[in-house]
Amino acid sequence: MKVLIYSAKEYEIPFLDNANKSGHKVTYTEDALDTDTAIQAMGYKAVSIFSGDDASSIVLEKLWNLGVRYITLRSAGHNNIRIKTAKYLGFQVANVPEYSPHAIAEHATALLLAFNRKIVLAHSQVIRYNFSQKGLMGSNLHGKTVGIIGTGKIGSIMVKIMHGFGCKVLACDLKPDADLVELCGVTYGTMDQVLKKSDVVSLHIPLTYDNYYLIDRKKLALMKPRAILINTARGAIVDTRALIDTLQKKEIAGYCTDVIEKEKGTFFKDHSNEGIENQQLKILLALPNVLLTPHQAYMTPEALSGIAATTFKNIDDWVSGTVCKNELGSEWVLS
Ligand code: NAI
Repeated sequence: MKVLIYSAKEYEIPFLDNANKSGHKVTYTEDALDTDTAIQAMGYKAVSIFSGDDASSIVLEKLWNLGVRYITLRSAGHNNIRIKTAKYLGFQVANVPEYSPHAIAEHATALLLAFNRKIVLAHSQVIRYNFSQKGLMGSNLHGKTVGIIGTGKIGSIMVKIMHGFGCKVLACDLKPDADLVELCGVTYGTMDQVLKKSDVVSLHIPLTYDNYYLIDRKKLALMKPRAILINTARGAIVDTRALIDTLQKKEIAGYCTDVIEKEKGTFFKDHSNEGIENQQLKILLALPNVLLTPHQAYMTPEALSGIAATTFKNIDDWVSGTVCKNELGSEWVLS
């Protein structure tokens, strides 16, 4: 099958090439899918997109009219594709529901440790030969209460890591995991209870219609003034405007994030010469109590080879007519 891979990053191409065992005719483009770049899919039956691509209804209609029939996402999250429209048009759509959840949970832990122990500040000072310890005080994680919002594939690994640090783990999930209660002594509660009692809160839920701005002004107000909020899930789970107010008033200790509300057009590119337009991101970056990475939590060889293998497995299944177990949106198929 002829496959166009949008938003192809130089570092992932070797993993994708290696996983293309069936010899599909693959073309890579650095461009993200949007209304302007959809035209590049002319002549391709399948496209693969990433989390920053725009597969809204208007883009999907363009792709369909160009002859595209299959869309495989190289991500677990699928908030950037309008599944209902895709299924209405007749697309087959699949994602990569699981690829090394350890990569994401370990990155959340790295953000927490770096922020808590002032690693970025210390490094920026020592490279200027400033070995003073002023401002470098952190605190032990051992004995602290960590709240995990969403204990699915990634959140459950985060629970185990935090349990290993000797933290008391609270959690909330629509479907509590009895194994985590037994193995790690997790106490499940409501989201409000978890937010009120935790010293650290880590988000591991998908961005869905219901979860949009789930962490709003009211929820942020429940958190302890010394609490750290970690987000490796999706930016729009948190109301950025309310978050900025909360951080500016120092009503929580800090925000460590790998994701922002509007990544498209800013993330995944070097803007160091021309600067950025996103005003909220500018404010966040200027705050001393924010630690931000550019959606890199999945960037490990283990995760990238998992993403590549599943992407081509999805395409192979479609070509062979086998049921694709990662198919999305069956609830929208008209009978
Ligand atoms: P998952 O589907 O295994 O787990 C999500 C859990 O959240 C489920 O147990 C679900 O019941 C729970 N949940 C959903 N809404 C909830 C709510 N309102 N309240 C309480 N619990 C709720 O998903 P997984 O694999 O753990 O991934 C989570 C998210 O992480 C993805 O949807 C994606 O957006 C993000 N992600 C970020 C990456 C990065 O590079 N920063 C890479 C991979 C995933």
